[in-house]
Amino acid sequence: MKAVSAAGDAEAVSGPAIDVRGLRKSFGTLEVLAGIDFSVARGEVVCVIGPSGSGKSTLLRCVNLLEEPTSGTVTVAGTEVTDPDVDIDKVRRRIGMVFQSFNLFPHLTVLENLTLPQRRVLGRDRAEAAGIARERLARVGLTDKESAYPAQLSGGQQQRVAIARALAMDPELMLFDEPTSALDPELVGDVLAVMRSLADEGMTMLVVTHEMSFAREVADRVVFMDGGVIVEEGAPEQVIGAPRHARTRSFLARLLTPATADLTEAAEAADGAGKRSGPV
Ligand SMILES: Nc1ncnc2c1ncn2[C@@H]1O[C@H](COP(=O)(O)OP(=O)(O)O)[C@@H](O)[C@H]1O
Ligand SMILES: [Mg+2]
Repeated sequence: MKAVSAAGDAEAVSGPAIDVRGLRKSFGTLEVLAGIDFSVARGEVVCVIGPSGSGKSTLLRCVNLLEEPTSGTVTVAGTEVTDPDVDIDKVRRRIGMVFQSFNLFPHLTVLENLTLPQRRVLGRDRAEAAGIARERLARVGLTDKESAYPAQLSGGQQQRVAIARALAMDPELMLFDEPTSALDPELVGDVLAVMRSLADEGMTMLVVTHEMSFAREVADRVVFMDGGVIVEEGAPEQVIGAPRHARTRSFLARLLTPATADLTEAAEAADGAGKRSGPV
């Protein structure tokens, strides 16, 4: 590991939470990330949007090295995770990750799902882990569910347990990969409310989502990805409200009103055809 000077320490404390430079990732001949540069400041909430297959999940997975980048650097809170000598387990401990699928242990109660990783990874004793687990369950509004098994909970409740489990590890930043995409529509709101409260408390968050109203209201910045590159990024009211690029506009049009977008395109095409042929 590199020796870190006192000045380096200070920089590590004040620098960005996530810094990505020239990131490329290929699977065989398929280039999924084609040169990504971006950073997330401490306390910032960044939402990543973009069509399926654009590389959003791969980007998130490169941040905590669930995928190994083909080239480029990723730095998390001052530690370069792409440094071959890095203690990646130590870095991962600082990063909470919440996936579309909740990945709870089905044979453990909610409380046990929260205490097990604290005891295994952080070495906390049973009583301390349980105390922290109960505090985090209260934060996600599930105090009364600690003895339930995951199968006895709704999808939204399971996802809130998964968020509480990540919070019990005292992460410095949280990565969310489409946390509400697997949920019935009526369960999405409670999960987004928990995420909003985390953002309000100052948690650093990188969130892949299709929930445009959440991105508009909660994100400090929105990043639009397509084809393995960042097409545009900026304030939510700009990227979502007044996108500069045609690719962003067509993605948003499809997302917000899938059926009408097609109709509008058809109408525009017909209109264009009409104009080209002129009045009859
Ligand atoms: N482990 C993998 N092996 C091969 N191809 C992969 C792998 N993971 C992702 N891909 C491909 O990379 C592309 C981007 O995937 P992904 O990052 O999941 O996109 P998104 O999250 O934006 O939908 C897709 O074409 C996907 O099939
Ligand atoms: Mg994905």
